[in-house]
Amino acid sequence: SVGNSTNIVWHKCTVEKSDRQQLLGQKGCVIWITGLSGSGKSTLACALSRGLHARGKLTYVLDGDNVRHGLNSDLCFKAEDRAENIRRIGEVSKLFADAGVICIASLISPYRKERDACRALLPEGDFIEVFMDVPLQVCEMRDPKGLYNLARAGKIKGFTGVDDPYEPPLNSEIVLHQQGGVCDSPTNLAEIVISYLERKGYL
Ligand code: PPS
Repeated sequence: SVGNSTNIVWHKCTVEKSDRQQLLGQKGCVIWITGLSGSGKSTLACALSRGLHARGKLTYVLDGDNVRHGLNSDLCFKAEDRAENIRRIGEVSKLFADAGVICIASLISPYRKERDACRALLPEGDFIEVFMDVPLQVCEMRDPKGLYNLARAGKIKGFTGVDDPYEPPLNSEIVLHQQGGVCDSPTNLAEIVISYLERKGYL
């Protein structure tokens, strides 16, 4: 049995991942962007998608906020729902990578265990974790959606970094520190990730 299902058998199709990759002229992978709210995950995801698209690569962005509008609209922000949010986005990312697409997942994904479980779904090397290493104070100062303000006022309970945990990655492939200079432009940060993909043979 698999999960809660019994009597299920994997059906293998004769068009395989390698065929799709050949057709697309690219290797599918998952770029998993984790970090606090306001750390710039979505902005990087978008800049990265744009940069890769300009190089003729097919990408798809799975943004936590956006996926919560559809597939994950049944989930809230309690621990077990966040874990399920991460798990589902991990599974969907895996499908995209298998389709040959460069999948960019950007969600807080505060728990190490669940992030590592998503990593384990992919072949070695195909899960590239990008940690937006931005101090809470900086995210809070930016507060692009005014949510930290609401959390501090007690109007949002269980806000990541305020009264809910964030477990920073220990072994991310890429750590992006933002110092507040011109090097931090979304395009420049995206270029760091793109160089990594080039070095590793994904482009
Ligand atoms: S998680 O933790 O990975 O399941 O979160 P994610 O799916 O990325 O959703 C985070 C966005 O939801 C908004 N939001 C909250 N964030 C954190 N904690 C609480 N309680 C919360 N409530 C709403 C917030 O806009 C997050 O967006 P980002 O893009 O991270 O700023």
